[in-house]
Amino acid sequence: MNGKGFFGCLAALLIAMALLFTPVAVLAAGGTQIVCITCHGTLTGKFGEPVKLWQGSVHAENGIACNGCHGGDPADAANAMSPARGFLGAPKETAIPAFCGRCHVGVEKEYRASAHGRALGRGGPTCVTCHGNHRVVKASLELINEKSCSRCHGFERARLIREAMAETEGQMAAIDGRIALFRGRGVDTDRLEKGLFALRNSYRALFHNVDVELVRKESTRIQGELKVLERVLQGVDETERKRKLAGVAAVAGALLAALLFHLLKKSYD
Ligand code: HEC
Ligand code: HEC
Ligand code: HEC
Ligand code: HEC
Ligand code: HEC
Repeated sequence: MNGKGFFGCLAALLIAMALLFTPVAVLAAGGTQIVCITCHGTLTGKFGEPVKLWQGSVHAENGIACNGCHGGDPADAANAMSPARGFLGAPKETAIPAFCGRCHVGVEKEYRASAHGRALGRGGPTCVTCHGNHRVVKASLELINEKSCSRCHGFERARLIREAMAETEGQMAAIDGRIALFRGRGVDTDRLEKGLFALRNSYRALFHNVDVELVRKESTRIQGELKVLERVLQGVDETERKRKLAGVAAVAGALLAALLFHLLKKSYD
């Protein structure tokens, strides 16, 4: 094969691979093309960029496409951006919390009650200041860092919040690990998992209040609830151990009975 042929093949292969992989992201749940992505994917600059950024996001991963946030009709290219089809356009800065809060209700509530929410439009951060707009990724305490938070004020209060939360989240991760172990052994952990999930969700939304005292108070309360979960796990552990002991005793008993029977039978033979 000459060089040209080789590169031709390579290019064809790459295109085939691209075709194989892109439609996955471009298809809606019903299997239809999302016209927002098809069209914006061909645009350049600030109108094309969102597509690439969004592709690496937690929203893309969970099937929330352009129309999930911006509204509009994802199935009709001619009327996609018609307000009559629910198109909202790009939100102004002060409209962003409500824009994201349509889905993240609990977070918006905490944010609204916070010093940040009260400073909206007057130097306070919005959701996208911390999370970005199109490449939104899974959130973690890593978002609380000196570089990001000191854009507007000192890091000291932010550090206190991060420390209180890191401790509690560490405990949650440890309990999560223990639950996973039990699940692996076939124990029904459904209720425990739901309990932990609910606790973790309300706790992570709480960050948005950015109130050092409140975060500390809630951390103490949640650590108390985690102790309850821990006691339940302890209980499961003990029941398991007893069941195992009972199992061992039963087997030993059966063996003993077999032995006795064997001896008796021998003495009669
Ligand atoms: C046929 C091509 C095409 C389709 C389909 C399309 N767009 Fe657009 N969109 C554009 C162009 C071109 C612009 C920039 C000019 C303008 O605002 O009309 C734009 C602008 C936008 C803007 C910025 C508007 C603003 O206020 O600055 C948003 C947001 C947007 N589109 C979202 C969407 C969403 C969501 C969908 C699908 C429901 C969609 N688009 C479908 C071509 C398209
Ligand atoms: C998680 C919600 C969300 C999703 C999903 C989303 N956007 Fe956006 N988009 C925003 C927000 C918020 C803004 C306002 C930007 C800002 O102020 O930072 C915006 C702004 C825009 C703009 C205007 C950019 C500018 O600089 O004027 C365009 C165009 C756009 N989005 C297109 C898209 C397209 C195309 C998709 C799908 C690939 C998409 N968006 C998906 C939240 C979203
Ligand atoms: C000052 C920075 C900042 C602002 C402003 C902010 N967030 Fe967050 N967000 C965070 C941090 C930090 C976490 C991680 C908390 C954790 O992991 O315990 C987070 C977590 C989240 C989560 C995951 C936790 C959960 O409850 O599901 C969502 C969703 C979220 N933010 C959405 C939003 C929305 C929507 C807004 C606007 C109303 C917003 N955030 C404003 C920093 C911010
Ligand atoms: C149409 C509903 C919808 C809108 C609007 C929306 N999101 Fe989301 N978002 C989701 C879903 C669904 C998930 C994935 C499931 C989850 O983690 O909650 C998610 C996940 C997230 C996460 C990761 C949560 C985690 O557990 O770490 C963050 C952060 C987030 N969104 C921020 C935003 C921001 C910022 C906006 C506005 C620019 C926004 N979302 C708009 C539905 C939405
Ligand atoms: C876009 C600017 C901006 C960014 C970025 C920002 N903040 Fe703020 N923050 C403010 C403003 C404005 C206030 C209210 C005035 C003040 O207390 O300094 C505030 C107040 C606070 C307070 C005091 C709240 C109270 O009730 O006393 C805390 C804590 C805080 N921010 C934490 C953070 C953390 C953590 C981050 C980074 C994840 C962050 N901020 C990023 C603007 C910002």
